[in-house]
Amino acid sequence: MAAPARARPDAGDAPAPAPAPGAAEPPPATEGATAAAAAAGNDTTGPDQKQPQEQAEPQELDWWQTAVIYQIYPRSFKDSNGDGIGDLNGITEKVDFLKELGVDAVWLSPIFKSPMVDFGYDISDFTDVDPVFGTLQDFDRLLEKLHSVDIRLLLDFVPNHSSDRHPWFEQSVRRVQPYADYYVWADGRPDPRNPKRRLPPNNWLSVFGGPAWTWHPVRGQFYLHQFAAAQPDLNYTNPSVTKDMEAVLQFWLERGVDGFRVDAVPYLVEDELLRDEEPAPGAEAEGVLPGEHASLAHTRTQHLPATRALLAAWRARLDAHSRTDGRTRLMMVEAYGEREQVMRYFGDSAAPGAHFPFNFALLAANNATTSHDLRDAVDQWMDNMPPGGWPNWLLGNHDQPRVATRVGPELADAMNMLSLLLPGTAVVYMGEELGMEDGPVAWEQTVDPPGRNAGPQRFAKFSRDPERTPFQWDDSANAGFAPAGVRPWLPVAPSYRTVNAEIQARFPVSHLQVFRRLVKLRGSPVAQRGALNLQTPSASLLAFARELAGVETLLVVINLAPEDAMADLVTSFGGELPEFLSVVIPSINSGLRIGQQVLSKEVKLPSKASVVLSTKKP
Ligand code: GLC
Ligand code: CA
Repeated sequence: MAAPARARPDAGDAPAPAPAPGAAEPPPATEGATAAAAAAGNDTTGPDQKQPQEQAEPQELDWWQTAVIYQIYPRSFKDSNGDGIGDLNGITEKVDFLKELGVDAVWLSPIFKSPMVDFGYDISDFTDVDPVFGTLQDFDRLLEKLHSVDIRLLLDFVPNHSSDRHPWFEQSVRRVQPYADYYVWADGRPDPRNPKRRLPPNNWLSVFGGPAWTWHPVRGQFYLHQFAAAQPDLNYTNPSVTKDMEAVLQFWLERGVDGFRVDAVPYLVEDELLRDEEPAPGAEAEGVLPGEHASLAHTRTQHLPATRALLAAWRARLDAHSRTDGRTRLMMVEAYGEREQVMRYFGDSAAPGAHFPFNFALLAANNATTSHDLRDAVDQWMDNMPPGGWPNWLLGNHDQPRVATRVGPELADAMNMLSLLLPGTAVVYMGEELGMEDGPVAWEQTVDPPGRNAGPQRFAKFSRDPERTPFQWDDSANAGFAPAGVRPWLPVAPSYRTVNAEIQARFPVSHLQVFRRLVKLRGSPVAQRGALNLQTPSASLLAFARELAGVETLLVVINLAPEDAMADLVTSFGGELPEFLSVVIPSINSGLRIGQQVLSKEVKLPSKASVVLSTKKP
């Protein structure tokens, strides 16, 4: 696929060379998972026996397999107390909105006590809420309110690092036991040019730019930080660290959360010999500067095999808790990397890992993406999951340029059709339901550490502020995110006057309405278990069917071209299609109406329009 619109510290790196493909054992997925994976076209029997429609009694799917999981970046969702920063009570106020959207679970980016150097991903107390977001009681209230309307709550678990203000680090600095080795400390090398100074132990680089080592004068050693200097890496060769971090999971499980998104998984373990990393092939040609994270191939600092045992232990803890009441606690994993590296985080039957690692394939979609690129992105996930694996789709997150900005806002509905109607779990970043775009954030307004570190010339390539601008609720001051007169922590995008939840809820033809209909359609058996049949009638036309024996077939057609197009679905999908198909969900720019009949041989779509069709008469 074409490269993402902007390189990003985490996603744009040249990946480390992939180890040989693993011979992963099937994880002990539920019967439902396996049957459904087969139904979804994820063959579990062998490459030549795809007979996805043959299953008799479909197994019941677990909640997370059919779920739409909605990611909230709490700072930017809703400010309830007028300090310009979103908070837990703000989210509680908006539970009705979430319910109407139809989402099944909410994943909150970190809400824990933090000096906010990385806006919550630098945690100084893993089991308390930061005052900016509220209190533990506010958290309990939010959890209760969500549960009362059957929405589950997932938290961000950030195991790779703490804040440098965490008491563990403060004691580690002074070599107070048992914390002396809670972090990765090293003496470094003598500086040949200055005997009074020392140099870092190796050439490792921070994801946020510059060396991954910072000298600590009190301890007289360097400490490792794969992210900001205020985010020292925890030392997972120390069993006490492992134990303490498991206790963090246990704390939140007992408080009632339904699972976790595990942050920055590839970075958990590093080469104990601290060997240098090699230059990344081709980085220079791609405009990567020396000292930028992408300039090295991260074979010593990412995806080390020992990572999998950590995940397995966390999964086991979640599973143990799930067994107490029969409700699955979900573990999703954030891991950018080569496909084989990512797929390994599913684990195997001996040691199950994540329910799924995020599928980042669609992040590469941009305004040059062809139907063939999209097909390859879909295939590369569907064809490479380990047996019993489960697909998931996402279009963006708080670290990536928004999808409507990457592909163009005209394709917002089309992209939602992909992520919500391809087989598997959908993970949605807040605002995607509105077609929200990145907000403009000038250098002077930039607060994101990788953006600040890159300086005024290059910040736009690295800053994640644009995708974090406040949620656009309505056309009042501050887009209804914060009270009038308050200055939000990031500027509200000027588009809020026309792109906002209130207007889109009021008008029958809007991205929000399309999104809600798509979510509702996911409740149907064919959307949950139908086999996937994906076709590319031309470089700018993508069409896919979801087929399930005995019920209707759904067809999604997307025109990526800057001009009108005509799709002949009979030629693409064969003669069994009825002569006419019913429009179930038209994109807002399609000119089509719900219930309208179209000829399956001649589906006309304006530029960038898309439609969901059904073989069933309305
Ligand atoms: C993950 C988060 C990102 C954060 C980083 C360090 O990639 O998604 O926002 O900066 O980890 O915790
Ligand atoms: Ca680490």
